[in-house]
Amino acid sequence: MNYRNLLRYTIVLLCAIGFTACSNTPRKYHIGVSQCSNDIWRDKQNAELRMGAYLHGNVDLLFATADDSDERQVQQIDSLVAEGIDLLIVAPNQVGTISPAIDRAYDKGIPVIVFERKTDSKKYTAYMGADNYEMGRLMGEYVASRMNHRGNIVEVMGLKGSSPAIERHNGFNATLRKYPDIRVVATLQGDWTEPTAYDITRQWLAKNADRQVDLVFGMNDRTAMGARKAFLENLKESPSLGGVRGGLPLFCGIDGLPGEGGGIQLVRDSLLDASYIYPTHGDQLLKLAVDILEGKPYEKETSLMSAIVTHDNARVLLLESDEVMRQSQNVEQLHKMSDGYLQRLANQRMFTLLSVGIILLLLLLFSGLWRYNRQKARIAKERNRLEREQLDFYTQVSHELRTPLTLIEGPLAQLSATDEMQKASAATADMLDIVQRNAAHLSRLVNKIFDAQQGNVAKGLSPHEIDEMIVSQTREAHDRLLNESTVQQGIAKAFGEQPTVLVVDDNADIRAYIHSILQSRYRIIEAADGEKALTVAREEVPDLILSDVMMPVMNGLDFCRQVKADFVTSHIPVILVTARAMNQHQVEGYESGADAYITKPFVADVLLARVDNLLKSRRILKNLWNQPVEKQDVEVDPNLQPASPEVKETIPQEETPPAAENTFITRFKKVVEERMSDSDLSVEIIAAELALSRVQLYRKVKALTGCTPVDLLRKARLSKALELLADPELTVSEIAYRVGFTSPSYFTKCFKDEYGKVPGDVR
Ligand code: FRU
Repeated sequence: MNYRNLLRYTIVLLCAIGFTACSNTPRKYHIGVSQCSNDIWRDKQNAELRMGAYLHGNVDLLFATADDSDERQVQQIDSLVAEGIDLLIVAPNQVGTISPAIDRAYDKGIPVIVFERKTDSKKYTAYMGADNYEMGRLMGEYVASRMNHRGNIVEVMGLKGSSPAIERHNGFNATLRKYPDIRVVATLQGDWTEPTAYDITRQWLAKNADRQVDLVFGMNDRTAMGARKAFLENLKESPSLGGVRGGLPLFCGIDGLPGEGGGIQLVRDSLLDASYIYPTHGDQLLKLAVDILEGKPYEKETSLMSAIVTHDNARVLLLESDEVMRQSQNVEQLHKMSDGYLQRLANQRMFTLLSVGIILLLLLLFSGLWRYNRQKARIAKERNRLEREQLDFYTQVSHELRTPLTLIEGPLAQLSATDEMQKASAATADMLDIVQRNAAHLSRLVNKIFDAQQGNVAKGLSPHEIDEMIVSQTREAHDRLLNESTVQQGIAKAFGEQPTVLVVDDNADIRAYIHSILQSRYRIIEAADGEKALTVAREEVPDLILSDVMMPVMNGLDFCRQVKADFVTSHIPVILVTARAMNQHQVEGYESGADAYITKPFVADVLLARVDNLLKSRRILKNLWNQPVEKQDVEVDPNLQPASPEVKETIPQEETPPAAENTFITRFKKVVEERMSDSDLSVEIIAAELALSRVQLYRKVKALTGCTPVDLLRKARLSKALELLADPELTVSEIAYRVGFTSPSYFTKCFKDEYGKVPGDVR
């Protein structure tokens, strides 16, 4: 899957998760509840509304209480509408004062439920409430009967302009008109609150101290209790005044609330004579609201049923209502618990979603990083490949150009130094000079191009300086060659014979050219590629190998590696001659085991100097039989120091022979020491033991020790004899036989040659 697809799938998945999360949550309804007053009747109703909301689960209630103020209620309704409520439940403080706010809400398309108190506006969706006129009428019947249809009544009204006050008064008085012996002696204007009822009753009593009052009808229980308080105080102040019952009149109210201080308890405790249950039914009200919001069928006008509370049923009603309240509290408690669980569940769900989201984003991030790094690595790899290709290209071209250049410049230098050319006409000399200068110019150009391309300024010199150096060296080459004949004689002396150099190059001209440079001092053998050269090297065991790097069949690096890995050839110094001029190429060359590196185009005397020096500075092992191999002294001719700093650089300066040679010497010594007493022990036998041919053994031993194997064998025998001479029990003859001599006189001769004394003198 590619990154873009992964990104696409992740976004789709995140959307799906988000959608699932949203779709699991049902649509929430926001219902505004505007209460005109703040009292225990409203508290009960609000609690029931909340209970109803619990049952529906998807309702959010916003309560506002106007505290009996018209203006405040209007403001609150407008704010609820502004908050974006879905439905308004309103108990209007007065019939006419709140209507404009109700109209505004309704006109905005918000369904309006008017409950309990009425409005003169027609703009409402549904009405729910008890029949207050009927309540007043039935209370009138009860009162008439309770007073035996005779006596005086004081009526304490609810808030003027509120519909229950008007309707209850109308119902009550309509009934009482049927009983002529019952007289309503006063209708006091209250406002539903206890303090106002107390105040107005006290004021009336102050003016009507002598009036007989048999019953007070308060339009709600709080009003009735306010009036009762006033009568009680009045009685305490003027005990001579009397009512129907022990000086106090009967008190009736409306609301009949359950619970502590509620109307039912007041009736049970005979503080009130009767009350009328004014139904709150908040749960039913909320159901109506949800039905409207959900588009279900509903009643436009709902009339709530009610009942009168008297001393006869108060106790039972109280028990029942207490039970209902207890159950409600349990439900409330359960709801709180389930709210907690739901909240936890919602948190967990949110956490899970967040975790999934974060994991997805992290995945996205990591996969992005991974892709970025992979891309970076791919680009780096590609760049390396291109650089390598570019390098190979330049190396190839350089090889192609430098090889013929070497073959032009070198022979030209040699040609110009010949006797014929010295004697040639001025015109011929000029032409040769033109050719030489242009060849040098071409060489300079080639160097400039490749140095510029490869950013390689060799050894801190500018290409121009290098060219100058090459030209001058080329011109002087032949002279030096001629002058060094004495050195040649010295080398031949050092090796006892002409050392052999194997020249490996696929270019026959280059081989011929190198041959011409080296032939005066060395025996030259040739091979055209690495594979052929390996065979020749094993057979002939040359003293040094000069090899090109870029060759068909087997390149110079592989060839060098194999030479160094072969027991027979591992000791042979290898010089790589190549157009591969980069440092990196030289490192590759040394890693393959090469001992020196010469770059093309080379100058003849530099090449010769390197070959000479490499051979001369080889470490020759001496005293092979006097010390352990690791501590053998090595002998380096002090006169034969490297000719130039370059050569010095490339010759390894080791203290001991390489590990491969160590192994060879150890094995050689072992064979000789074990079979020393055998007079038949020959070089052929030793070679066979070491799995070498006679020639291979000869050349290897000669190259490493400077001695022939026969010499070495004799030295070993004499060394052992010297050791045995310390034993006085042994005669010289016995010693001679023991170390493999067949003739004691020949032993004595050889011993004298080696140590300058006869064995007897040594003793
Ligand atoms: C509560 C209340 C009740 C009364 C009703 C009349 O606010 O005063 O006591 O019965 O309102 O609307």
